[in-house]
Formats: sequence, C-alpha cells, structure tokens
Amino acid sequence: MIEAVQTSSQFTQRVFSGIQPSGGLTLGNYLGAMKRFVDMQGQDYETIYCMVDLHAITVWQDPAKLRHATRELCAGFIAAGIDPEQSILFNQSAVPEHAQLAWIFNCVARMGWMQRMTQFKDKAGKNAQNASLGLFAYPALMAADILIYHATHVPVGEDQKQHLELTRDIATKFNHDYGVDFFPITEPVIEGAATRVMSLRDGSKKMSKSDPSDASRINMTDDADTIAKKIRKAKTDPDALPSEAKGLENRPEARNLVNIYAALADMSVEAVLKDAGGKQFSEFKPILSELAVAKLAPISTEMARLTQDAGEIDKILDRGAERAREVAAPILKKTYEIVGMVGA
Ligand code: TYM
Repeated sequence: MIEAVQTSSQFTQRVFSGIQPSGGLTLGNYLGAMKRFVDMQGQDYETIYCMVDLHAITVWQDPAKLRHATRELCAGFIAAGIDPEQSILFNQSAVPEHAQLAWIFNCVARMGWMQRMTQFKDKAGKNAQNASLGLFAYPALMAADILIYHATHVPVGEDQKQHLELTRDIATKFNHDYGVDFFPITEPVIEGAATRVMSLRDGSKKMSKSDPSDASRINMTDDADTIAKKIRKAKTDPDALPSEAKGLENRPEARNLVNIYAALADMSVEAVLKDAGGKQFSEFKPILSELAVAKLAPISTEMARLTQDAGEIDKILDRGAERAREVAAPILKKTYEIVGMVGA
C-alpha cells in the first residue's frame, strides 16, 4: 500500500471539509459550507466530507444529543445533495487515524501559534484556564483531518481562514523538520457571496448556532412560516437597496440580506442589485423569503425523513469510514516511518 502514497508535490486533487455536530445546522453552515461542498462534488476532485464529532466534544456535549446531531448532520449532507457514493461521508471518530496524526501535529505546532488562534480566544471566553485542553489543541486536529488525506482544497467559511493558515504552517514545518515533501500545502477555498453570513439581528455578528437568540439565525430545520417570520423581522436600515454593490458599504444588515439572496439564487451580488436596486425592504424581504423557503424547505423535509432511519444513516457512515480509512491508513503509516516510529 505504501507505494501508493504520494510524497511529491504532485498530489491528487482532493477536497476535504468538516462540520461539527454540535447543535443544528444554520443557513450560515449551509451557504458558507455545505452548498459549496455539493458544488465541488462531481468536479475534478475526490471529495471527502466529515462530521467532526471529536471537535464537537472540545466543549461539553450531552452524549444522546451528540449521537442525534451526528446522524441529523449526516442526513443534512445527503438532503443538501451530497451523494455518499460519489463522495466519502463519515464521522471523524470512526477513523482513528485523525486522532493519531493529530498527536504528531501537537508535537509540530508551537504553543505560540495556538495562542494566537482567535477562535480559541472567542470560545474560551474570559475563563481560558477552565477551557479544555482539547479546545486549545483543536486546530492541530483540524490540520490532521485535512492532511491525513493529503487534501489539496478545503472549502470553508471565512471564520476558518486562520485555522487553514495554521494547517499550512504545520505542513510546512513538518516537511522542513523531516526534510521531506510529504504533506501538501493546502488551498483554502473561501469563495462566493456567503462566506460570512451574519446574524439577522445584528449585522456585525456572525450567524451562529450558539447565539442565544433563535431569531438571529435560520435553522435548516425551520419550517416555512418560521423562515418567513425571521426574515420579516430581520434588522435592516430605512434606505432602499442600492443598484450597485458599492452602495452596500457601511450597511451590514442590507449587505447580509443581499448576500443571502445571491448565494441562494446562485447569482452575483451585482446581478441581484441590478434587479432589486431601488426596492424598499418591505418589498425585498418577501421576495427573499419566498426564495429561501423554496430552496430550504425541500432540504429540511428530506433531512427530517432521513433522520428517522438511524439504521440506514449508520450504514452509510460505516461504509464512509471504511473508505476513508483506505486513504488515511497508508498516509499515517508513512508519517510514522518518517517520524521514526518502529513497527506499525
Ligand atoms: P463549524 O461546524 O463551525 O462550521 C462548519 C462550516 O460552516 C461555516 N460557517 C459559516 N459560513 C458562513 N457564514 C456563517 N455564519 C458560518 N457559520 C459557519 C464554517 O466556516 C465551516 O466551513 N473547525 C470547523 C470544522 C472542521 C473543519 C475541519 C473544517 C474541523 N476539521 C477540516 C474544514 C476542514 C468548524 O468549526 O466548523
């Protein structure tokens, strides 16, 4: 098997990305990540998508809820258009090579690098001493997720940019320290109108599943009435929409709604504003609602249907993990050899 592992800069075009099963999926996850995962499937890449349950437990998760959220997330991937035959779809803990490579990377990454991670600072809050060690090491596990497959491209939302820079730093330092050209320097793919979907209540805050206000986000499990109500109540300013993107500067709430429309409709912001420029929000919001419901309702209905059948979901995840291990195991073996581990 080892001969098949690539050790040069000619890497297979391979996409990896992950989502945490820590609560429900939001419109931010869908537009910033999942929809783009679907777009990359069937292009010139191998595609590997993961429910990162080991990352989820870096903050407390109730075990029964974690199990449910993992299966529901798997249903969400499939409902959104990920084909578990075409892509590899699995949960992280089922492929132990992630945690094994993460340990090696814990020994490559420097304390100073980790201390600069803004997500740790945000999540740990004021009481950093009480945060788990896992939360601190989170980005090294993320680098392992990506590099255990020699992934070359990682589609993510804007908030993951710093973690992907760290992944590149870890790969570079590993290659340099051991004098090899073994890990690829991964390309982050942060593209499109919705790489940072903002809260519907505050245009300066990211839409997030952990925001205490449910009105701040659209959940992928919301029904049509709830979606319409949240959009109707979304914060805006009193002006009409501009006819050019430049007119959205310093109007974060207006920009957010236009970005959401553009991403849902697969249009550019310019094209949206060509049609919608001059409209008041009282006119634009119902159009946005209608589009959001048309695009999201079929996904949430299918997601709910698939979630019912835990046995079928588990079968899909088992098969995905088996296929993932076929790629990961030889890369871990080779890594151990490079590092100087005996045996394996
Ligand atoms: P997570 O679970 O927080 O989010 C999953 C994906 O959704 C994107 N996202 C958003 N995009 C736009 N607007 C938003 N408001 C928004 N909220 C979330 C995130 O950028 C992400 O792409 N650390 C990762 C999970 C992870 C991972 C990986 C990702 C673990 N290992 C390896 C890529 C590769 C995270 O917390 O995602």
